[in-house]
Amino acid sequence: MQDIPVKILESNGIKIKIPCIGMGTFGSDRFTPEQVADAVKGGLKTGYRLFDCAAVYGNEDMIGKVLNEAIENGEVKREELFIISKVWNNMHGKGDVLLSCAKTLKDLQLDYLDLFFVHWPFPNHHAVGVSGDARIPDARPFITDEFMACWRQMEKLVDMGLVKSIGVSNMTIPKFEAVLPLCRIKPVAHEFEIHPAFQQPELFNYCVEKNIMPIGFCPVGSPTRPERDTEPGDIAAMQMPEIIEIAKKHNVHPAIICLKWAVQRGQIPIPFSIYENEYSSNLTCMLNDPLTNEEMEIIHKADKNCRLIKGQVLIWPTASDWHVLWDENGKICGWND
Ligand SMILES: NC(=O)c1ccc[n+]([C@@H]2O[C@H](COP(=O)([O-])OP(=O)(O)OC[C@H]3O[C@@H](n4cnc5c(N)ncnc54)[C@H](OP(=O)(O)O)[C@@H]3O)[C@@H](O)[C@H]2O)c1
Repeated sequence: MQDIPVKILESNGIKIKIPCIGMGTFGSDRFTPEQVADAVKGGLKTGYRLFDCAAVYGNEDMIGKVLNEAIENGEVKREELFIISKVWNNMHGKGDVLLSCAKTLKDLQLDYLDLFFVHWPFPNHHAVGVSGDARIPDARPFITDEFMACWRQMEKLVDMGLVKSIGVSNMTIPKFEAVLPLCRIKPVAHEFEIHPAFQQPELFNYCVEKNIMPIGFCPVGSPTRPERDTEPGDIAAMQMPEIIEIAKKHNVHPAIICLKWAVQRGQIPIPFSIYENEYSSNLTCMLNDPLTNEEMEIIHKADKNCRLIKGQVLIWPTASDWHVLWDENGKICGWND
């Protein structure tokens, strides 16, 4: 087992060591908690140290058993792990963020989390496994004061020592602009969709400039994502001709090219797979045979601006469509957009 390179981030006066790649744990409504926990068990043996968990994935208790077993039997030390979790949208209310974090810690059998995210920047909750046309009657747009009330609770978790760092997910530049000046503890990381068909250069550069580590979800283009997030025009990163061509040259699966690109560009990818051959090669591919500058440039130019996780089940009743969630016109979208 080889050591995976780490990245060092200095934020809020502390130094954070984070592996350059991690393992996702969202079973996409397709895999059971047992299957995902088995992948975590295998992933630990292969050398994964970063695991991207979330309360809403419904498997933290099973993953907790695996982590506890590995720590108890001396396979890994707690301080070698980097465990992420997220507060779900129905737990933003007063006192709820603490409750959510306490439940996650209990399920994962840990004393602290390395990084805790606000999963989405609004409290619009949908049930697990809903279809794409499901709508939430009381869903609402992003409201700065509401977000900050949630963030104050996140900051308190740091003060209490229950989480080492806090971050955000599924944000936009206008939303960052509204909240960053108000944060006592700045977000250290932003987890958002990044793959060769959706590179989000503006948001990526913005995060880097603000010293916020980009963590890329759906890094190989999430071919097994839930039905509700699939539209006919979607472009699969692994089927892009540029990616296939480069994969042939390196004699690897196109998924591996997506991951090499991600690490070399500077984001932390968190690919998911329950299959040993896939998750091992996903991890070890960064140890050798890097992409050339020319190959990096070819992928850079191949961006299709194709968002896969649209979030349509989270829109509010008066919204025109899912685009409002992403503030594409440069301002925070509200009730009338
Ligand atoms: N913060 C958020 O809102 C958010 C949203 C989405 C995801 N996430 C996180 O990001 C993680 C990754 O996203 P994701 O699971 O949607 O997408 P992904 O990692 O891009 O895609 C996962 C799928 O890709 C295939 N795959 C992975 N490695 C492969 C390889 N080496 N060769 C061939 N196929 C491979 C697998 O398909 P098969 O099963 O068919 O082999 C797997 O099910 C999630 O698990 C979750 O932790 C966070």
